[in-house]
Amino acid sequence: MSVIVITGGSRGIGAATAVECAQRGMSVILTYKTNPTAADAVVRRIEAAGGKAVALPLDVADAQSFGAFRGTVQRTLETAWGATTLHGLVNNAGYGLYNPIETVTPAQFDGLMNVHLKGPFFLTQALLPLMAQGASIVNLTSATTRVATAGVAPYAAFKGGLEVLTRYMAKEFGERRIRANAVSPGAIRTELGGGLTGEFEALLASQTALGRVGEPEEVARVIAHLLSSESGWVNAQSIEVTGGYAV
Ligand SMILES: NC(=O)c1ccc[n+]([C@@H]2O[C@H](COP(=O)([O-])OP(=O)(O)OC[C@H]3O[C@@H](n4cnc5c(N)ncnc54)[C@H](OP(=O)(O)O)[C@@H]3O)[C@@H](O)[C@H]2O)c1
Repeated sequence: MSVIVITGGSRGIGAATAVECAQRGMSVILTYKTNPTAADAVVRRIEAAGGKAVALPLDVADAQSFGAFRGTVQRTLETAWGATTLHGLVNNAGYGLYNPIETVTPAQFDGLMNVHLKGPFFLTQALLPLMAQGASIVNLTSATTRVATAGVAPYAAFKGGLEVLTRYMAKEFGERRIRANAVSPGAIRTELGGGLTGEFEALLASQTALGRVGEPEEVARVIAHLLSSESGWVNAQSIEVTGGYAV
């Protein structure tokens, strides 16, 4: 029995990852922030296909709440699966913000930092005691860490921090045989940052070797692979899933 936690599992890449992991036989705890209806729909979709999932509320910007969240995860493991350990964590929840450096406010900066760097750091710390030997952590970063994209500087900088943090997680958790890898998507068709408008999508597609933007399921399959023992010797890596963006 493998139970994994996916933050931001109510929509986009997180929802697609929940469905993909369930199809591969994993049990899923997915979290949502504002959208319980969408989270429940993901749970029902997984159950309809014969899998099992539970949706829990979590604000990844609120590190103070992570101790209580660990308690909820522990109780959920016991009641839903008769289990005591987790086999995976996907630090996926996030949001985009377009604002050039000249006009970014401290509040905007802090908001992005809390969700994209501080949240994954302290959530991983909080859930570490529940992680089984051989567990796998996947952190969602972004191709904006490699290709400077005007208007998303704080977001990209924190994703870059998360990429570095991923290697430190791999280093420090290795003695418990816990792996950590980053998945770095390019432009994916989700609602992030208000979604892709036609003109913007065409521009991104023209900058991509395969000539289009990606779908959430294409990222989900890579995450699911990294969670599974099939990738047991892949550790401390950052893997771009972009169709060849800006190469
Ligand atoms: N889409 C892309 O092109 C792209 C590219 C590179 C990297 N990424 C990264 O991939 C990850 C997933 O993005 P996505 O495109 O799937 O986004 P999305 O479709 O907008 O979904 C975002 C998810 O994160 C949750 N969320 C947002 N803020 C949260 C918070 N403070 N606490 C807890 N949950 C929160 C949302 O929950 P509710 O709906 O319940 O509020 C939702 O489930 C993000 O880390 C993003 O930065 C995406």
